[in-house]
Amino acid sequence: MKRISAEIDEIIEQGQITVGGKQEIRPYIIKVLGTEDLKEVMRLQNLVIGSLEKKEYYVPIPEEELRFILEGGGESVGLFIRDRLYAACSLLFDVAYENNMAREIGFSEEELGQVVQFELSMVNPELRGHRLQYKLAGILARRLEERGTARYLFTTVSPYNYASVQTVTSLGLLIAGLSKMYFDWNRYVVYKDLYNPVKLDTANAVSLANTALIDQQQLLHNGYRGFAQCKDENGTKILYAKIL
Ligand SMILES: CC(C)(COP(=O)(O)OP(=O)(O)OC[C@H]1O[C@@H](n2cnc3c(N)ncnc32)[C@H](O)[C@@H]1OP(=O)(O)O)[C@@H](O)C(=O)NCCC(=O)NCCS
Repeated sequence: MKRISAEIDEIIEQGQITVGGKQEIRPYIIKVLGTEDLKEVMRLQNLVIGSLEKKEYYVPIPEEELRFILEGGGESVGLFIRDRLYAACSLLFDVAYENNMAREIGFSEEELGQVVQFELSMVNPELRGHRLQYKLAGILARRLEERGTARYLFTTVSPYNYASVQTVTSLGLLIAGLSKMYFDWNRYVVYKDLYNPVKLDTANAVSLANTALIDQQQLLHNGYRGFAQCKDENGTKILYAKIL
């Protein structure tokens, strides 16, 4: 009975994790999500939105879009402790023209057809500090690469969302654009070419403050890409290097 349910749920990982300030250690599982998890994902999204430091970090995903992904329009993974979802991440396959982030950096019609996008990524505040966003996004990126069904992995991130910029650059996605998007919020457009990764002249990297929007746009325009993030006493910096 247990084996059958494991096959249906497709469990990816099991382990133990420390929860919240009380430092309680609890068993968790990470599994592929299905339509039966829709309610839990919406519940987690409401909780995360309620605890956001800045509303502009996160663009909520509507329930119909999430249902579409869970029904097979994409792939989602989530971390559960007992029956409660604590972290989730989703990829959308076959991205419609109007939502395609690659349009922001001038991809051709043909290239737009080879794009998949991260559409959702969130961690319950009680479980922050374990780099779970990196873990779940990494699982989805690896599974996508193994399937080989799409060439470009895209997402957009607020320049001020340190944890998310850290996640995407650590996964090898490069900052290729910076523009005003949803509700006029600033967003980095980041992507990875899974078939033929872009090579950068990182030996001659340039560092800019994440808040220096116009200077970063200028570098991007001149053929640079953002590939890493660091912090010092003056704030957060993004490292840029020219495409070789
Ligand atoms: C973004 C999010 C998913 C990251 O959660 P997480 O994986 O638990 O992140 P962690 O707490 O482990 O932090 C990861 C890194 O960011 C840093 N960090 C986290 N919050 C930070 C903050 N508010 N300011 C500065 N640094 C922060 C951590 O120190 C860590 O850095 P390090 O790797 O250099 O040590 C989570 O904060 C969240 O759900 N936020 C709201 C929704 C959201 O923004 N989603 C992403 C949309 S693109």
